[in-house]
Amino acid sequence: MNPSKGVLFYGPPGCGKTLLAKAIANECGANFISIKGPELLTQWFGESEANVRELFDKARAASPCILMFDEMDSIAKTRGSGGPGSSEAGDRVINQILTEIDGVGARKNVFCIGATNRPDILDPAVIRPGRLDQLIYIPLPDLKSRLAIFKAALRTAPIAPDVSLDVLARSTHGFSGADITEICTTASKLAIREAILTEEERLKKVEAGDLDEDEGKADPKDLMITKKHFNFAMSRARRSVSEKDLALFEEFAEKQKAGRGEAATNFKFDNSSSSSNDETEDENTDDLYA
Ligand SMILES: Nc1ncnc2c1ncn2[C@@H]1O[C@H](COP(=O)(O)OP(=O)(O)OP(=O)(O)O)[C@@H](O)[C@H]1O
Ligand SMILES: [Mg+2]
Repeated sequence: MNPSKGVLFYGPPGCGKTLLAKAIANECGANFISIKGPELLTQWFGESEANVRELFDKARAASPCILMFDEMDSIAKTRGSGGPGSSEAGDRVINQILTEIDGVGARKNVFCIGATNRPDILDPAVIRPGRLDQLIYIPLPDLKSRLAIFKAALRTAPIAPDVSLDVLARSTHGFSGADITEICTTASKLAIREAILTEEERLKKVEAGDLDEDEGKADPKDLMITKKHFNFAMSRARRSVSEKDLALFEEFAEKQKAGRGEAATNFKFDNSSSSSNDETEDENTDDLYA
């Protein structure tokens, strides 16, 4: 078979689509070119398309290569939609991208990844079979993922031993990865600010002669991010993805799933002749068909 030409990551903002692409770049060992949609657009007539051509030329020359289009919705809006931000130049750019993706032969070893948080306004031609035909939904993190994100965000931070990341993860249902990172940043910042203030107070006292030079100096080992800091950070925390937005994504994901198989629900190969064989196989492949 011919390998797939690309995937599309979609999901609410701040859930790690761009991060995932970066991780792929690190892990895959192929060349990696990343471009944000708006970077392709210029004000000069015809230059935006030329940029696209150049980009694919570069990718082909560097094959095996992964070509990442971040913020794809900005260039791949439904053509001719005439909505805000849609433009003739945008239409020509997306036409050029479609042409290039079609033109990338299987032997050329160029794989395209698109990322967007607006799959609903994306031109359907982009995700039709043969182009970015594998749609991967990157949802809000679940409990396990939230814990992992807390751990990752705080891996180098000195946290007080009584701070339970487990509890934090459990009370951040509905938060995106970016929101969780923000909580950690706020707590760290607060701890740092507090340490600086304490030290300033101490220096003032030293100056006034109340304290000796090194008296009461905090041991760097004791400077930690404590429960208090996290309490404050949590009180300032926000959910950047609203229930309403989330519902839209879930709906789109459902629609993608439901759309598959709808066209031929009644179709089934008659397998009565080889049934004994099939059953043993079914047991091993349950996961595959889940
Ligand atoms: N799964 C995760 N693990 C660790 N950090 C994460 C994760 N998801 C998000 N983050 C944090 O949130 C930040 C934003 O994530 P990222 O830029 O990948 O979001 P995105 O899905 O591309 O959003 P957008 O749709 O707005 O472009 C990251 O830089 C990282 O700090
Ligand atoms: Mg992004």
